[in-house]
Amino acid sequence: MRRRLRFVLGSEPRELGEVEPTLTVLEYLRRIEHRRGTKEGCAEGDCGACTVLVGRPVEGRMCYRAVNACILFLPMLDGCRLLTVEDLRAPDGSLHPVQRAMVEAHASQCGFCTPGFVMALYALYRERGVARETPIAEWLAGNLCRCTGYGPILEAAQRMHAVAQGADHLEAREAETVARLESWQDGETLAVGREGRMFFAPADIGSLARLLIEHPDATLIGGATDVGLWVTKQHRRPHPLIWTGRVAELTRVEDTGDGLSIGAAATYRDVLDRLAALYPDAGRVIRRIGSVQIRNLGTIGGNIANGSPIGDSPPLLIAAGARLRLRRGNRCREVPLESFFLDYGRQDRRPGEFVEAVVVSGPGPGTLFRAYKISKRFDQDISSVFAAFRIDLDGGRIASARLAYGGMAPVPKRAELAEAALVGRPWKRQTVEAAMAALERDFTPIDDWRASAGYRMTVARNLLMKCWLESSGEIRRRLDLAAEVADG
Ligand SMILES: Cc1cc2nc3c(=O)[nH]c(=O)nc-3n(C[C@H](O)[C@H](O)[C@H](O)COP(=O)(O)OP(=O)(O)OC[C@H]3O[C@@H](n4cnc5c(N)ncnc54)[C@H](O)[C@@H]3O)c2cc1C
Ligand code: FES
Ligand code: FES
Repeated sequence: MRRRLRFVLGSEPRELGEVEPTLTVLEYLRRIEHRRGTKEGCAEGDCGACTVLVGRPVEGRMCYRAVNACILFLPMLDGCRLLTVEDLRAPDGSLHPVQRAMVEAHASQCGFCTPGFVMALYALYRERGVARETPIAEWLAGNLCRCTGYGPILEAAQRMHAVAQGADHLEAREAETVARLESWQDGETLAVGREGRMFFAPADIGSLARLLIEHPDATLIGGATDVGLWVTKQHRRPHPLIWTGRVAELTRVEDTGDGLSIGAAATYRDVLDRLAALYPDAGRVIRRIGSVQIRNLGTIGGNIANGSPIGDSPPLLIAAGARLRLRRGNRCREVPLESFFLDYGRQDRRPGEFVEAVVVSGPGPGTLFRAYKISKRFDQDISSVFAAFRIDLDGGRIASARLAYGGMAPVPKRAELAEAALVGRPWKRQTVEAAMAALERDFTPIDDWRASAGYRMTVARNLLMKCWLESSGEIRRRLDLAAEVADG
């Protein structure tokens, strides 16, 4: 076991032996390093004021991701480089092109959000080609500003590449950082802590399995985008913590021939394109989970394991027919994903067991797959209702149907009576209406501040009709008709 945490802060190496397992990167920066450019707004991953970049060497180059320092635990930086707004100025004191673009576009007023925007934009600046495919507004959805109205910030984002002249001072000395971080890579389990509270980061699946048997009460973390809030909002101090982010077997997304095996520690960012290639609608809704910062950290495994009735990926994957692979020691078992959710807050996970992967097959030739996220805001919001439908058609008849909902019951759940109302019947309006009626017997929705029970039921029913209208071309026909009427 390695007893020292190692990372690079800006350009300086850090090695720490004593670390409080749940100390956040934000607290560390502000209280211990006195780097106070990184701000605390919400302390729950919502506002982006604390945005920093975490970089890892990938194939000889540094790969950076924007993340929320307020919910990231310090030991999760092991083997990484951390960049904060203080690192952007050149050694001669001149502003970075991203900062110059912000100044020139008058994109800062009170300035509280500015370091977070600068770092989010710097991530965009560094990703260039890849990130340019993402609309800027989507890229910045995790950063809030109460002063500027966003227009000048979006303008700065357009300008920054024009202001740039070649590699910046951080890129120019990158080879040194890559060499240092690569020399630190080892197969040792990191074990750091303070006053008996421990943080473990195993480097392979066997070590993870052994650790969890030794510490069956440990809290596992993937991206800590849920567990981070237990600490900052509920003032809990779970320990020991076991982080899955260094376990290569868990971070992989593998082709299975007819689908994907998604490791429990694969982030939304890692999964998005692969899942979207299988099911385009899955890509559309995953893009609406949290923000870029949250998707860079949050994992599908964490979203499943937390058992929330309003998590987005469980209904999506249940509809797709996914199976969950669980592991304890050397033993694995696979269960249909829906059967993992026993009741509110209760999952089919035994002591010492962990989620290893979720395995999902692709669509067949007659598969219709749709997913819908309904939330009050388009970006960075939790679903009121999430619905995903897989309908397999055979010559116009419904051969099989999987209708899965979030936000309609204490757990993510299939609508079995509505499914029965579909199977064997023609895919037409009357069949869908019968299934909509059956939904009323499938669910007694929850009623809370996010949405009333009546609203949830209406939405659940209407999404099924929307799916039929979309698939039958009815929506297109009605829009064309409306356009003809409008044209006179
Ligand atoms: C600002 C913000 C916005 C968000 N938006 C959304 C959203 O739009 N939709 C949505 O669904 N969620 C959203 N979330 C919730 C969260 O991001 C997701 O649930 C995420 O997928 C959790 O993954 P994680 O790796 O960060 O989980 P963690 O916080 O690391 O863990 C979550 C739970 O899973 C357990 N766990 C983790 N890995 C394993 C494993 N391998 N085996 C067994 N147990 C494990 C942990 O012990 C814990 O109980 C949001 C969160 C924030 C802070
Ligand atoms: S302080 Fe608001 S996202 Fe971190
Ligand atoms: S400039 Fe004041 S919050 Fe953005």
